[in-house]
Amino acid sequence: MEILDLRHFSSADLRPLMEDETQVWSRLLSWDYSGSAEMILRYVDSKILPGYAAIDRGRIFGYAFFVYEGNKGVIGDLFVANGNGNRASGQREVESRLLLHVIETLQQSPGIHRVEAQLLVHETGVVARPFVEQGFHRYPRLFMSVPLSNTHPSSSPMPRDIEIRRWSEQDYQTAAAVITAAYRGHVDSEINDQYRTLSGAVRFLNNIVRFPGCGLFDAESSFVAIHKTLRSLVGVILCSRVRHDVGHVTQVCLLPEYRGQKIGEALLAHTAANLRKRNFSLLSLTVTEANRAVDLYKRLGFESKRVFDAFVWEG
Ligand SMILES: CC(C)(COP(=O)(O)OP(=O)(O)OC[C@H]1O[C@@H](n2cnc3c(N)ncnc32)[C@H](O)[C@@H]1OP(=O)(O)O)[C@@H](O)C(=O)NCCC(=O)NCCS
Repeated sequence: MEILDLRHFSSADLRPLMEDETQVWSRLLSWDYSGSAEMILRYVDSKILPGYAAIDRGRIFGYAFFVYEGNKGVIGDLFVANGNGNRASGQREVESRLLLHVIETLQQSPGIHRVEAQLLVHETGVVARPFVEQGFHRYPRLFMSVPLSNTHPSSSPMPRDIEIRRWSEQDYQTAAAVITAAYRGHVDSEINDQYRTLSGAVRFLNNIVRFPGCGLFDAESSFVAIHKTLRSLVGVILCSRVRHDVGHVTQVCLLPEYRGQKIGEALLAHTAANLRKRNFSLLSLTVTEANRAVDLYKRLGFESKRVFDAFVWEG
């Protein structure tokens, strides 16, 4: 087995592995990964995707890639095939070697002061060793979902001066301001530094709304909470379509002074009702284990399906 630069390969070399990976995403997360896989394969063909491939007898059976975002490196994916008689321990070993290559490359890249990774299909702890040994912090996160047949319209009354309306393109800047205020001092802004500044939150929104990395943004099931007399945005929920019948909440947050009045519950109920009306079957989200919001999601019927890790290094 050897580890080689991913840029030596073409989409034809990587495609069989991506097909395996697409099945894993579907089985574990009810997520249709084929759109993301096609995007990755296009990047591989243009030789612009930094990463590494694990090769055995000329065949790619594992890979990891990353991207540079300013001073930050983000590990985009890690996948090692489990089949062909690979023992699980062999698979772990290859995952660790690929990760170590990626981590060392990023930590030695001039100007890179921060590295982030969220590896959804890897169970918590399983790939933690190379991260922890290289000085990363680990944050356990939950992947939760609820069958839409189990969701109900919100029974709790909302404050009278708040109304909920559909997301529109004009909400971009104000939503970015709400995100920055909502996550000030919050554990999630340790995990994702885009939450810390207005320009970062705009980049976050661009990634969610304009690019198909985290499913396809679904404007119909995305809403904002508005203070009627102040005419200002106080909260937002964004939802993407990750499979033809599965929605995924990519963001839900409120300004701190409006919390605890069931506005968050009402936003989630609006998203669920819209998806149900359109015959979606499932709604999912991810949440940091240490976030109080976990209790709200459980109360609304969400169940934890997986625990995975987010990793952060600051140099
Ligand atoms: C999570 C959030 C959208 C919930 O909205 P909300 O209107 O406050 O929630 P509701 O009034 O409908 O329900 C109250 C529940 O929300 C959760 N909650 C309350 N304050 C919270 C806070 N500061 N952070 C996270 N969750 C909170 C609790 O579970 C609370 O139930 P409890 O009072 O029994 O503990 C909102 O609190 C928020 O913006 N938090 C910060 C951003 C965040 O964590 N977003 C979720 C990321 S996955």
